[in-house]
Amino acid sequence: MDKSRLLSDPDRYYAQVPVWEARLRLWHWTNLLVFLLLIITYLLFDNHRMLGFSKPSTVLFQKMHVYLGYLFTVLVLGRLHLAFRGQVFSRWRDLDPRYDGKGFLPVMKEEIALHLRPKTDVRGRPVPDPDPGHNRLGRFLYLPLLTVLLPAQALTGLLWGSLKFGMIPLPFLHSLPKATAKPLTWVVSNLHAAGFYALLAFLVLHLGGLVKYELTFASDLFSSMIHGKKILTRESAEIHDRLTKGSRQENDPV
Ligand code: HEM
Repeated sequence: MDKSRLLSDPDRYYAQVPVWEARLRLWHWTNLLVFLLLIITYLLFDNHRMLGFSKPSTVLFQKMHVYLGYLFTVLVLGRLHLAFRGQVFSRWRDLDPRYDGKGFLPVMKEEIALHLRPKTDVRGRPVPDPDPGHNRLGRFLYLPLLTVLLPAQALTGLLWGSLKFGMIPLPFLHSLPKATAKPLTWVVSNLHAAGFYALLAFLVLHLGGLVKYELTFASDLFSSMIHGKKILTRESAEIHDRLTKGSRQENDPV
């Protein structure tokens, strides 16, 4: 599919408008960087034997992992703050897949069908989702990610740091009797590991979904998370206008 032709086709695309505010984009890419550093430090200390690390080096990577975890926690809180106080497309409303009184399951079925067999325009070209903000199918990933997965991962990580090294926020956990500390550490470690695999699964679905969307609709989704703007169909642009009416978009054209 010829992307540049489609994006400059006035019959299909209508306007390029600001969607992702700067704070959200900054959050997204900083979060990715911290996420990757957390994975690297984890892999280093988890494979310390194979890599021949001394005990102090292993502890160093473990502590680096905890410090990165503090940064990750601040980022999670920052994103939750935006969900309440950010601009229109950062808020909960734009993360909730339900619409027109339909529940989660009917919307999910409808959206999967829509993405596998998209509606076509008069020239037979697939028509993208009319939502100007988050893709409605993507919301089924973003909502549990932001409400459950990221906060739980931050929480179990903080507990692990406190149990293992007596680090904040609960340093006293390090001095618990062994009989209590051992099973507690086991539970926390396993929850944290399960969260890690769930996050990897999210990432695979997230990237797979983005690629599928770009290939199907020849959209500008990837670059939108860099410059903050999306090229929308007339229908999407009208919804965008309605949603942003009366609220200032940070990168509004002047
Ligand atoms: C190479 C890695 C990544 C790329 C290229 C990427 C790209 C993108 C793009 C283009 C969007 C906007 C499209 C949409 O609305 O569906 C997006 C949204 C989003 N991404 Fe990623 N992403 C990556 C990694 C991650 C990671 C590691 C996380 C979290 C652990 C994440 C969480 C999100 C969230 C929550 C959104 C929705 C925007 C928001 O409400 O904050 N992404 N991503």
